[in-house]
Amino acid sequence: MKKVRKVVIPVAGLGTRFLPATKAQPKEMLPLVDKPIIQYIVEEAVASGIDEVIFVTSSTKRAIEDHFDRNFELEYRLRQKGKREQLSEIYTISDMAKFIYTRQKTPKGLGHAIWTAKELIGDEPFAVMLGDDVIDSKTPALKQLIKVFDKYQDIVVGVTKVAKKDTGKYGIIDPVPIDENTVEIKRFIEKPSPAKAPSNLAVTGRYVLTSEIFDYLGKQKKGAGGEIQLTDAIAKYIKKRAGYACIYKGDYYDCGNKLEYVKAIVNYTLKRKDFRAPLKKYLKNL
Ligand code: G1P
Repeated sequence: MKKVRKVVIPVAGLGTRFLPATKAQPKEMLPLVDKPIIQYIVEEAVASGIDEVIFVTSSTKRAIEDHFDRNFELEYRLRQKGKREQLSEIYTISDMAKFIYTRQKTPKGLGHAIWTAKELIGDEPFAVMLGDDVIDSKTPALKQLIKVFDKYQDIVVGVTKVAKKDTGKYGIIDPVPIDENTVEIKRFIEKPSPAKAPSNLAVTGRYVLTSEIFDYLGKQKKGAGGEIQLTDAIAKYIKKRAGYACIYKGDYYDCGNKLEYVKAIVNYTLKRKDFRAPLKKYLKNL
């Protein structure tokens, strides 16, 4: 049985949904309290057993590389000032995993971004996590998917229920129930209108794929939005093989959406012992 060790995190997108905040900085570096969104994603990956993180990046995303690297000047100054706690926190970030970067030279869509990592994956199963999608859960969401993968040894996507009116924002599956948390995927459609959506189970940025997906991605034509879609390649793959969805336990925040991002900030601030009581008091008085 092959173990899922690697994750591909595509971060090349321009982040236009979050302008003007993203004019001069990557959207993935926006913070939830004091940690950038992308660090939450990487921490979930590591807590799920991943030891190699492959970022598919672009020229405007250098801050992400710096964040997961050492910063000797900062370390020196923190050491001089005796700020031990902060120093160890800074070290931990760059030591969490092995970080690899590859560039997506042209923005041709999510499917193309994953294709860019083909040589770095080889013939192992691998995870994909999207930098906008934060999932707050007791057991890391990706770990829940990997458990399903270990059982069926084929593609698994992470899904959650969304409002029917919102199906046009997501990849939506047509499910065949297996058990409480697992379904088999009959069909997979990228951003269907509510009238055409086969369910309200939406994929929210978590995938476990086999390397055979590259055979499909390599031939994939443009789909929704004129882009090469990962969803379309998975839809073809499952017709030949099989695909499963894990209805993960956890709360999903689409941090590419301004209001959802604010909700995520409130949630993660309330989880912090140091801020919980004063924030609750503040919100009550608003
Ligand atoms: C992408 C995927 C879509 C998925 C969504 C949220 O769309 O193509 O299937 O449901 O992420 O994870 P995007 O939000 O990049 O347009």
